[in-house]
Amino acid sequence: MPRSAALNAILFILVASYSLQVRAQNAVDAEGHQWWQHAVFYEIYPRSFADSNNDGVGDLNGITAKLGYLHDLGVDAIWITPCYPSPQVDFGYDVSDYENIDPMYGTLADFDHLAAEGKKHDVRIILDYVINHTSDQHKWFLASRSSKTSPYRNWYMWRDGRGANQPPNNWISEFGGSAWKFDPKTGQYYYHYFYTEQPDLNWNNPEVEKAMFDVTRWWYKRGVAGFRLDAVDTLFEDPDLRDNPVVPGKNKLGDPNTEEKYNKKLPGVHDVLQGLRKVADENHAVLIGETWTKNIDELKQYYGEHNNELQLPMDFMFTRVDKLSPAEFRRQIAAADSAGGWPTWVISNHDIVRSYNRYGDGTHNDDIAKLMAGLYLTLRGTPIMYYGEELGMENNDPKRPEDVKDPKGKLGWPADKGRDGERTPMQWSDSVNAGFSTHDPWLPVPPSYKTHNVASESKDPDSVLEFYRKVLKLRHTNAALLEGDYKALNEDDASVLSYLRSYKGKAVLIALNMSDSPKKVAFDLASNGFASLSFNGLVTTPGASSAGSEVTLPAFGVFIAEVEKK
Ligand code: GLC
Repeated sequence: MPRSAALNAILFILVASYSLQVRAQNAVDAEGHQWWQHAVFYEIYPRSFADSNNDGVGDLNGITAKLGYLHDLGVDAIWITPCYPSPQVDFGYDVSDYENIDPMYGTLADFDHLAAEGKKHDVRIILDYVINHTSDQHKWFLASRSSKTSPYRNWYMWRDGRGANQPPNNWISEFGGSAWKFDPKTGQYYYHYFYTEQPDLNWNNPEVEKAMFDVTRWWYKRGVAGFRLDAVDTLFEDPDLRDNPVVPGKNKLGDPNTEEKYNKKLPGVHDVLQGLRKVADENHAVLIGETWTKNIDELKQYYGEHNNELQLPMDFMFTRVDKLSPAEFRRQIAAADSAGGWPTWVISNHDIVRSYNRYGDGTHNDDIAKLMAGLYLTLRGTPIMYYGEELGMENNDPKRPEDVKDPKGKLGWPADKGRDGERTPMQWSDSVNAGFSTHDPWLPVPPSYKTHNVASESKDPDSVLEFYRKVLKLRHTNAALLEGDYKALNEDDASVLSYLRSYKGKAVLIALNMSDSPKKVAFDLASNGFASLSFNGLVTTPGASSAGSEVTLPAFGVFIAEVEKK
C-alpha cells in the first residue's frame, strides 16, 4: 500500500473509532433517554471512602482502586464531594482554588488517572461545584477584601453596616449567627450565607459568571461528565437587602427563626442554571442540583420552563419522610413522577442522617435497608446512592462534644450534633478501622462494621450488599425498569406500597411491605391489560412469594416480579 493510503486508512480507523466512542458515550435510546437517565449515581465523600496512603483520610487514588468494586456493584457515575484545595473549614465546601486538587486528596495527575481508569470501568466522574461561595482564602476574596478599590471588590457582597456594630440587615447564617461579618480592614461587612469563612460570590457581576462558567469548561476538558451544583438556592439576594420576616421561636443553633424571603430562591438563579446548562449540553454533561424544594412547583422551576436547567434536581422529598408510610411515599412519588422532568431519588447524603437510622426499628434494620433498595432503585428516574447505603451502614454520631469535627455540630451541640455521623469511613472489611486505614481514621467507624462491611457481606447471599447487587443488576437489564412508566397500585393499602412499571406490553410489579407483620396482597390488573395473571419473581427477600395474583410478604418483605399474562 502506498504510504499515503496507509496513513489515510489509519486516520479513517482513528476517526471512526473516536466517533463510535462518542456515540456510545452520548447515545440516546429508543425512548430518547440519555446516559444519565439510565445511570445509577453514587455519592462519594472522599475523606471517608478509601485511604490509599494510610493517613486516616481518604484520597483520589483510594477511589481509583475501588472502581472495580463500584462497577461490579452497578454504579455508572460517581459524584465526588469537593476535593479542590480548601482550608477544610467546611470539609471542602470552602474552595480556595477551583482548578486543582487538595494535596490531602492527591494531585491533578491523580485526578487524570482516576478519570482514565473511570473510562475503562465505565464509571463517569461528577464533581461537586460550590457556586454560591468560595473560601475566604480564595485569591479572589483575598483581593476583594484588600481594598475598596480592588478590581475584585465587586466579586463578593460588601455593604456598610446600619450603624455602629450593626450589620446591614437581619439575615441569619445557616451555620449560626448573623450572615454578615465586619472586616476592619475596609470598615465594611461581607455577606456569607454559610460559615464566615465562606463569603458569597456576587452573581450579579458578569465577571463572576464568566469565571465560574469557565471553570466548568476547564473540567469538562479533563473528562468530567457533569457537576452536582451546591447550594443553588442561595445565589442571589434582594438588592435592597430587606429584612427577612421574623417568626416566633429559635432555630436549632439558638438564632431567631426567620423566613428566608429575601435571600433564598430569588429568580436570578434560573438564568445562571440555564447558562451552566448550555455549557453542559455542549459537553453532553449532566447537572445535578442541591435543590431543597418545598413542593412540586419549586421542583418544576428547577427543571426549567423548557427543560433547560437542571436535568437532575434533588428534591430530597424521601429524606423528609421520617417513617415508613406507604401513603406518604405514594404521595411523594406521584408528585415527583408528574413534575414534567426526570425524577431523581435520594435517601440520604453527607448532610442527612442515613436511612438505616431514619427507618430502622432495631429489630429488622437489614430488612428495612433492603426494602429501601427495593424502592428507590426500581422507580422511574435516576437514583443517587450514598456510599455505604449498600452495606446498611449506620450513623455514628459523636458521643461527646469534644469529638465533634463538623463545626455545625460544635455550634449546635447537643441539639444539633452536626453531620459527622453520616460521614464515617466506608466499611471495607472486619479488620481494624473497617479496613479503611491502618492509621486512626478522621472519624471513628461504628461497632456494627464487624458485620456490615464489603468483605463479609460479599460472602453472605442474604446480606444487604448482595440484595443491592441483585436489584441493581435487574435495574440495568430490565426494559420495564429502565423505560417503563409508573403506576401506583392498591392505593388504599396502609401497609404495602405497590406499583407497576410497564413498557411495551411487559410489566414489573414491585410490592414493598412497610409494616412489621406479614401481609397478603391481591392484585387486579385487568385495567392495566392483564386479565388473568401470575408473577414470575425476579428479586425477592426470603419468604416473599406469590400464588396466582396473590403475593405473600413477610414483615418488611420485598417482592419484585415480572407480570405474566395468561
Ligand atoms: C451544601 C453541602 C453542605 C455544605 C453547604 C455549604 O449544603 O451539601 O455539606 O456545608 O452546602 O457549602
